[in-house]
Amino acid sequence: MQKIVNKISRGLKGSVTIPADKSISHRAVMFASLAKGKSVIKNFSKGQDPISSLNICKSLGINAEFKNDLLIINSTGKLSRSSTMLDCGNSGTTMRLMSGILAGQNFNSTLTGDESLSKRPMKRIIEPLSLMGAEINSNDFKAPLNIYGKNLHAIDYVSKLASAQVKSSIILAGLNADGKTSFTEPYTSRNHTEIMLKYMGANIKTDKNTVTIEKSFLEPRTIEICGDISSAAYFIAAALIIPNSKIILKNVGLNPTRTGIIEIAEKMGGDIEILDKKTVSGELVGDIQVSYSDLKACTIEGEIIPRLIDELPIIAVLATQAQGTTIIKDAQDLRNKETDRIKAVATELKKIAADIEETSDGFIINGKTNLKGETEVETYHDHRLAMSLYVAGLICEKPITINGFEWVKISFPEFENLFNTLSL
Ligand code: S3P
Repeated sequence: MQKIVNKISRGLKGSVTIPADKSISHRAVMFASLAKGKSVIKNFSKGQDPISSLNICKSLGINAEFKNDLLIINSTGKLSRSSTMLDCGNSGTTMRLMSGILAGQNFNSTLTGDESLSKRPMKRIIEPLSLMGAEINSNDFKAPLNIYGKNLHAIDYVSKLASAQVKSSIILAGLNADGKTSFTEPYTSRNHTEIMLKYMGANIKTDKNTVTIEKSFLEPRTIEICGDISSAAYFIAAALIIPNSKIILKNVGLNPTRTGIIEIAEKMGGDIEILDKKTVSGELVGDIQVSYSDLKACTIEGEIIPRLIDELPIIAVLATQAQGTTIIKDAQDLRNKETDRIKAVATELKKIAADIEETSDGFIINGKTNLKGETEVETYHDHRLAMSLYVAGLICEKPITINGFEWVKISFPEFENLFNTLSL
């Protein structure tokens, strides 16, 4: 689907409630499926990726039904073999977390994915899971994954990558393994798995960058899912770069392992205020007020990278509007996302006259640039590219045409409607 985006003539004004967090939604449905009894999930994401996780849980024998805004999960606490292959769609989180869960079951399963997911690296989970006794056949360490259920044993694993998907896969295998499993990562990646497992009664501990888990039974719970800061990021960026904007984003998750975007926006001189903080189902939540600001360039590297990994495409757009040279380093894993996001972002932003160069592990972006438009840009079947280009289009001198805009449905089907409510 093509989307034409025009320059916006007035600033964004008003407030929107940000829809449910994608990462937390995946975990809620998976962990509720493992807990014996009835769990109630409030505000489950309508994105295609979490729906893939939900459908897989149903194929594994879990009774899951929507009642108005609630997702009710009834589970015996045990999964059962699926007669069909389990389709993860576009979702790396579904494939990597489900692998950890399925590796220790007493039945076999096959996980498949779409074209993009079938190109993504799975060695990062197959290797540590195999050390725990898992047996997984793959297509040269890529999907489809044939998982032969085994009794797993604990390991102490030191990961070179700071990846929440890898960490969660090993923790979930550890939940059902003999002994005490530990996972150490170089920097802290998002910790929703740890928070939710603890909330559901698991024997799990975190000490600096090491998580330790012992075999545990989960208790069913009511889980309320907060708004997704990765979705809020497009509104934060748009308000910062569209003159005269002042907006409030409500009910946004503010877990410090996800708020790198706010720290960087503030470092760039962005006018951002956090209002009304509270804790919901173990996660920090609040409202974010953002106003148009004069931005200056900065360097983004090291431990903050996993805390803003999904926001780098929209941060690149932000950097085109900041005075000076923004350098983004240490983000080589961005090449392994839904597409090679380093290449894709640099290629597409150049088409609208951004001064951006790709490096092996990030970007060098010179600002402030008048973005031009009057061109077609591509999303590479990547939801975050689609939304980042939309925001860029709002400040281009001439309209841009985004090809493949429908991919926003992967995480944020409400995206354009919500934008429209702020630009009335
Ligand atoms: C996610 C972890 C991150 C992130 C992805 C969601 C998660 O991936 O990019 O969108 O829910 O655990 P990595 O673990 O590969 O960094």
